[in-house]
Amino acid sequence: MNTVQVGLGERSYPIHIGAGLLDDRRLLTESTAASQIVLITNDVIAPLHAGKLEDAFHEREYHSLVLPDGEDQKCFESLERIMAFMLERRIERGACIVALGGGVIGDLAGFAAACYQRGIDFVQVPTTLLAQVDSSVGGKTAINHPLGKNMIGAFHQPIAVIADTAVLETLPEREFSAGLAEVIKYGLIRDSLFLDWLETHLADLVARDGEALNHAIRRSCENKAEVVAADEREGGVRALLNLGHTFGHAIETARGYGDWLHGEAVGAGMCMAAAMSRRLGWLEAVDLERVEALVAAAGLPIRPPSDITVERYLEIMSRDKKNVGGQIRLVLLEALGRAVVTRDFPSETLRETLSSAAGGPTSGPP
Ligand code: NAD
Ligand code: GLY
Repeated sequence: MNTVQVGLGERSYPIHIGAGLLDDRRLLTESTAASQIVLITNDVIAPLHAGKLEDAFHEREYHSLVLPDGEDQKCFESLERIMAFMLERRIERGACIVALGGGVIGDLAGFAAACYQRGIDFVQVPTTLLAQVDSSVGGKTAINHPLGKNMIGAFHQPIAVIADTAVLETLPEREFSAGLAEVIKYGLIRDSLFLDWLETHLADLVARDGEALNHAIRRSCENKAEVVAADEREGGVRALLNLGHTFGHAIETARGYGDWLHGEAVGAGMCMAAAMSRRLGWLEAVDLERVEALVAAAGLPIRPPSDITVERYLEIMSRDKKNVGGQIRLVLLEALGRAVVTRDFPSETLRETLSSAAGGPTSGPP
């Protein structure tokens, strides 16, 4: 087992990474001393992986809420359902929520933990690659609003993250590839050594080789932990974690959520950010080729759908949370392994990037 520490003073916490961690009862029970445990998961994950948690916590007061699967569960109705579930069972302030699932469950259960009785403990047990390398770490919790994704939320750090890499065996291939987008992101924004490693080990990762997976998840979590420790509330450097996300969110919004997966949109979005960096003369042609080759090798699209107009992109991108004073800010690459957040680019360069990027599938990646 590898343990990465997120250093946030009295709110510091460990990220445990390894195969078979859900079989380690001691690790699970030592992650929280709470006498009341509320497991929150969904109906896809519960039959696959929830039994181990129930076994581990059988000596505590244990409650389990199984929600339907899907991004549309990140909503007020689900939050209300969780609150009612906990109030009806007289869950107290000293209780602990255990979020077993991908980013949807982690974000929703984390937000519930942030709100219930003004904040209770929660443990993240991420079950997707995306959640193990990104969403379970850093304390961003949220639900969606019809007018915008992740618009209602709170920063609320978990007290522990337990990433059992064995649970990834049941993850569908498309979801696994989507998680690889966030892994590649760390190499591109701040870790050129990791980027080199990814170029030689991506095939192992795609084959879900245990050793390669462990290394990639650990290195991703180390990168994220360093960024979060430096800038918990995204006043500065944390925004770099959004490489490819402004373009990606525009693709997701334009297509309608669920058509392109988040990681697929981020994959194409990172290629768009690299292409724009190339247009600005920051990257060499060979750098852009490297980015596209890596994203393609992960099984992700390198081009956005062809049916999104430049005007539609700009309309969606103008509502991005990173914008300041109505001006679009983008995460771009000064070099491979070095990203910046900037609004210092000619709007024509952005337009050219958007109009020349198209070419991907219009009805979601195959
Ligand atoms: P997800 O939670 O919807 O999971 C993807 C699919 O895989 C679901 O159908 C789920 O039921 C299934 N699944 C999960 N684990 C499985 C397993 N081990 N075996 C089989 N099936 C499994 O999607 P995701 O990609 O994990 O997360 C996306 C969400 O994360 C989005 O809502 C996004 O906004 C959020 N997110 C949050 C942060 C953050 O910092 N908080 C960062 C990135 C993304
Ligand atoms: N996933 C971006 C962040 O945690 O800041």
